[in-house]
Amino acid sequence: MARWVPVEPGAVVIELGSGTGAVTRALLERGLEQSQVLAIEKSARLAALLRVKFPDLRVVVGDAWDLDALVQKHVPHMQVGAVVSSLPLRNFSRERRLALAQKIGSVLGPGGRWIQFSYHLHSLQPPATGCFKLAAWEIVWRNVPPARVNVYEKVGQPA
Ligand SMILES: C[S@@+](CC[C@H](N)C(=O)[O-])C[C@H]1O[C@@H](n2cnc3c(N)ncnc32)[C@H](O)[C@@H]1O
Repeated sequence: MARWVPVEPGAVVIELGSGTGAVTRALLERGLEQSQVLAIEKSARLAALLRVKFPDLRVVVGDAWDLDALVQKHVPHMQVGAVVSSLPLRNFSRERRLALAQKIGSVLGPGGRWIQFSYHLHSLQPPATGCFKLAAWEIVWRNVPPARVNVYEKVGQPA
């Protein structure tokens, strides 16, 4: 997932559902500074663990669906270059997925990327916000079970 993330000085990357920090670590290895990553994790226990592992990371205990408010509060003046999500999106209703996609579209800068992990291996078009296109995808067969990474690119404003 991390290899699809643009590394731009001054831009922030939002990680939704950081969990134990495996993707977070890959983002840092890719060259992002800890201060360039805003991790939004629902579990206070996992967030506390992340803070120990990455002391300079911006870690917020919160709900991904509050993304717009959390961005306003924690990184108000920074451009958002990418949103990386390990959320189990297919567990949520179509309406919830659409709502999240609209929020992601509203915080991303022009050309920004939304990188979404999924165990659903078939093509997954972005929710119909009108502001994303599927720019790239890959199946990671080494993952157990195999997983798919979808790279959506912002091509317009959410409706
Ligand atoms: C598949 S796991 C995380 C995988 C992660 N890359 C890792 O290395 O552990 C999904 C994570 O999303 C978090 N999560 C679930 N719903 C969430 C929500 N609404 N907002 C933020 N985080 C959420 C879970 O607590 C869990 O840590």
